[in-house]
Amino acid sequence: MKDMVSTEGYFNINGLKLYYKKVGSGRRKVLTLHGGPGMSHDYLLPLANLSSYDMTVLFYDQFGCGRSDEPAELSKFTVEYAVEEVEGVRKAAFGDEKVYLYGSSYGGMLALAYAVKYQDRLKALIVAGGLASVPFAAKEMARLRSELPKDVQATLDRYEATGDYNNPEYQKAVEVFYKRHLLRLDDWPEDVMKSLEYAGKRRVYPVMNGPNEFTITGTIKDFDITDKLSVIRVPTLITVGEYDEVTPNVAEVIHKQIRGSQIKVFPAASHLTMWEKPKEYLDTVKDFILQH
Ligand code: ALA
Repeated sequence: MKDMVSTEGYFNINGLKLYYKKVGSGRRKVLTLHGGPGMSHDYLLPLANLSSYDMTVLFYDQFGCGRSDEPAELSKFTVEYAVEEVEGVRKAAFGDEKVYLYGSSYGGMLALAYAVKYQDRLKALIVAGGLASVPFAAKEMARLRSELPKDVQATLDRYEATGDYNNPEYQKAVEVFYKRHLLRLDDWPEDVMKSLEYAGKRRVYPVMNGPNEFTITGTIKDFDITDKLSVIRVPTLITVGEYDEVTPNVAEVIHKQIRGSQIKVFPAASHLTMWEKPKEYLDTVKDFILQH
């Protein structure tokens, strides 16, 4: 982020103040969607480097996330509402211009849902560790969980039986999963920690997702748009890490449904590939955008 020209402020979308950060002033407009649901844009900041390639990169905190307002009614905590919010943000930031839509994780699912409805406003789509079906992604996560060391699984089982998700011992066991499948770095960057802290402080993550990444008991648990993806005709890139908690099998399903889509699996990486393989990751996304 150093030396990059950025502006920040708030958009007023559907009556809510949403925090945004715009980096660079390049010709190609890249709109980024963070995951969670319930994280914040911070963990996506390595993508700000795209601004060196004639791109404007827009980050924002979705409703109820990070520094943004939250709808008073829990009934608005839905993917459908989030899709209209993305459209509001796109319009507020870029008017009639088509954008490159980048979505990470749940943000990838949101980007897919947006494309199903509004692809005429897109130049291209990038789905990073994203999913089309929460039930299938959750099933895959359960498989990864079953491959953890036996004692870790026993600890998870013990506390899940009583719902004691905040117990420090349970949290330690969760961390074993996270260090394998969320971010394979010994020291986690401040921007990632910030997004996780916001997820823990605000309501969206527990309401929409659940207690942790592999226990999806929230309101999105049955969401599945797999059979709608075949309408997507914009150029699409799907990225995924070899050890991603949102697994390569999940990425394959998306790839199969979207005709002409490209898929790139990053070896030895997991969910937050942008931190694990910064150069290779940025080059992949940058090259794809420049080609379209
Ligand atoms: N909960 C995961 C994410 O959006 C899938 O980061």
